[in-house]
Amino acid sequence: MKLFVKIIKIILFALLLLYIGAILVWNFSQPAVKWKDEKFNIVQEVFPDDFMWGTATAAHQVEGNNDNNNWYAWEHTLNEDQQATIHNNDKSGAAADHWNRYPQDIQLMKDLGMNAYRFSVEWSKIEPERGLINVAAIQHYHDLVDSLLAEGMTPMITLHHFTQPIWFDELGGFEKEENINDFVKFSRRIFEEFRNKVEYYCTINEPNVFVTGGYVRGDFPPGKKDPQLAGEVLFNLLKAHTLVYRTIKALPGGQKVKVGIVKDIFVFEPKNRFNPGDWLVARTVDKAFNESTLSYLKTGVFNFEFPPVSITKKYQYGKGSYDFAGLNYYSHIIFDFSFDQDKALEPYMPEDEIKTDMEYTMYPEGLYTAIKRIATLGAPIIITENGVADHDDDIRGAYIQKHLAAVSQAMKEGYDVDGYFYWSLMDNFEWAEGYEMKFGLYALDTLTQERTLRKGAETLKTIIEGN
Ligand code: GCO
Repeated sequence: MKLFVKIIKIILFALLLLYIGAILVWNFSQPAVKWKDEKFNIVQEVFPDDFMWGTATAAHQVEGNNDNNNWYAWEHTLNEDQQATIHNNDKSGAAADHWNRYPQDIQLMKDLGMNAYRFSVEWSKIEPERGLINVAAIQHYHDLVDSLLAEGMTPMITLHHFTQPIWFDELGGFEKEENINDFVKFSRRIFEEFRNKVEYYCTINEPNVFVTGGYVRGDFPPGKKDPQLAGEVLFNLLKAHTLVYRTIKALPGGQKVKVGIVKDIFVFEPKNRFNPGDWLVARTVDKAFNESTLSYLKTGVFNFEFPPVSITKKYQYGKGSYDFAGLNYYSHIIFDFSFDQDKALEPYMPEDEIKTDMEYTMYPEGLYTAIKRIATLGAPIIITENGVADHDDDIRGAYIQKHLAAVSQAMKEGYDVDGYFYWSLMDNFEWAEGYEMKFGLYALDTLTQERTLRKGAETLKTIIEGN
């Protein structure tokens, strides 16, 4: 009996040590970052003259009349519960009619003092059938680029921003490694068209969001809930990025341009820093959705662990295939461990933080953390997206001010940030959320297509003018 008690004591002591050790390691490796108000002053002098100030959009969200891609098909189906796939049963439809109104929209950017614009080219308009190129669609993007250049603005092209042609999906999309080549061919065509005019190319926008929506949560097309497939698709997207990078670099003019990937970083955190359960969920999600991508880019080794799924793949050219790192940052996501499977990944909303209209709060310190994290890629950083859904426009000004303060703080410490693109120029089709989320510097009336400057946007204008 005595021996038994002794063994129990030793086990308990070992567990206690393990607990203290793990909590210490976790807390030190990912400290809580919370700034006092006075730390949110912008360090104006760190922004160089050639800093890119712009907005970002994506074709499907703003152009209108995209009726030949995966999202169009998705908007017109019902989900597994026989419900509309998009909030309010919205359809992207005419969107912001940016396809026709881009000259006016460029003027709106100019009015805010911007010198750059990130947009995506719609693959399904350019290649409506496999191998068939619509020259008029390409010409449209030439017109857009020429208009930007005429205004002295730097264009930045995104090659894949969530949408892909229906024919590509019918082939299995990025679920099949052999389909990557279709995307590489398309990207090559775009580069050959624009190499003399456009310096910046983003290959793939937020591969992690694409797979989380499409293959884990199932609220993005193709609406699957299959984490194994999520990992495989993620690898194929990263491999596609690498191949596009290498293809462009090998072509005439390829060395003159800058090609990068756009990585979203949500900062995943535990609700209670002394609760190993909360840490475990935060670390697991971080490993699967941030670290898998970042370490692939750094080493060429892809390691996707999302229990019980475990995928390891290697691609010899994966390492270092980028000239800049695009960073999209919106917020942090906090986990509150639960044994209930359905609740395990439900985010917790801290009471003391300002709510946005999306399912996350405003957490500007996280942009500073995310910059430091993506800097481990060792390339210049461009903030390719940052913005807030704020219907009432009562936090947008503060959001912009504080996030730019975080950027300026990082730059003051020596981090190389070359540009900041606000999401987004005008309200637009926010994927599964439809039109209810208002991310625009300009409010959009979807009936009249009228754009109205929001008060909060003035903050950005003033900051840009100050530089
Ligand atoms: C994304 C995309 C954008 C979104 C924006 C706001 O992050 O999902 O890049 O298309 O509209 O981030 O959520």
